[in-house]
Amino acid sequence: MTRSAEDRAGEIVGRGRTSVVYAIGTDRVIKIYPEGTDPAEVRAEEHAAGLIHRLGVPGVRCYGSSELDGRPGIVFERLTGDSLTTIAERDLRRFPQVCRTLAEYHARMHRARTEDLPDVRRVAAGLLDSPPLAGLTGSQRQALRRYLEDLPDGDRVLHLDFHPQNVFGHLDGYAIIDWYSACRGAAAADVAMSILLMSEAELWPGTPPLKKLLYLASRAAMRRLYWRRYRGVTGMAHDDVARWLTCARILRLGLLDVPSERHRLLRRIRAAAVAQ
Ligand SMILES: Nc1ncnc2c1ncn2[C@@H]1O[C@H](COP(=O)(O)OP(=O)(O)O)[C@@H](O)[C@H]1O
Ligand SMILES: [Mg+2]
Repeated sequence: MTRSAEDRAGEIVGRGRTSVVYAIGTDRVIKIYPEGTDPAEVRAEEHAAGLIHRLGVPGVRCYGSSELDGRPGIVFERLTGDSLTTIAERDLRRFPQVCRTLAEYHARMHRARTEDLPDVRRVAAGLLDSPPLAGLTGSQRQALRRYLEDLPDGDRVLHLDFHPQNVFGHLDGYAIIDWYSACRGAAAADVAMSILLMSEAELWPGTPPLKKLLYLASRAAMRRLYWRRYRGVTGMAHDDVARWLTCARILRLGLLDVPSERHRLLRRIRAAAVAQ
C-alpha cells in the first residue's frame, strides 16, 4: 500500500508491548510501530506475515506496509474473534480446550517448511554481540557460540513469540498473529521459547499482586497442558526441547530486553556458558 493510512485509521482495536493497532474500515487494521523503529524490522514482519499465509499457516492476510503520522505500519485483515487468553478468562471451563488448541496450532505451524526465513541459530548467534548481552565475557560468548553451532538444523516455520495472546479466533478457526520474530529451524526451538514465555517471561507490567498470583498459577497449568498435548500430537521428546532453552533465553533477552527479566536471563545464560 503506498497511500498513507492516516485519513482512514479509526478506533484503537489493540495494543502490544510497543505497537498500537487501529481499525481501518470494518475489515482491516493497521499495526503501528513506535517512531524510530528500524524499517528492516517492519519489513521482516511484513515478509513473514505474507510468507506464512502463502504456506497455509493459519494467519490473517497482510496487505503491505503503510504509515500513520510518519510512523511505520503494516495493514492486516481484521481478526473476527478474541485471543485464546480472553476466551479462557471469560469462561474458565474452556481453559483445558484453550491449552489444547494452543498446542495443536503450534504443531500445525511446525508442519510448514521454508528456506525463506533466517536460521534461528544464526539470529541467536548475532544477538550475542547485541547491547543486552554485553555483560558476557569473551570466553562465555565463545562457549555460547559453540553451543549454538551444535544445535540441530531444521526448516520449519518458527514464530518465537507464540503464546495465547498471539492466537485469535478467526472466521471458522484460529489465526496466529505477530510474526516479527519469525525464523526457520527445528520445531523444538519454538517449543522451548513458548515454554520460556509460559514460565520466565514478565507478566503485563503493572499487573496487581493478586491477579499476578492467579496468572502465574494458570500459566503453569497452561504450560503443562500445552506440552502434554504438543508431545502427544508430535511425539517430541522433552530432551529435544531442553537443549534449546539457553538459545530461547538468548533470543528473549536479545530481541526484547524487558528490564525486569534482564538480570535473571543473563544469570542463566552465563551459567549455561560456564557449564559448556
Ligand atoms: N489483524 C488484527 N485484527 C484485530 N486486532 C488485531 C490484529 N492484529 C493485532 N491486533 C490487536 O493488537 C494487539 C497487538 O498486536 P500484536 O501484533 O500482537 O502486537 P505486538 O507485536 O506489539 O505484540 C493484539 O493483541 C490484538 O488485540
Ligand atoms: Mg503480540
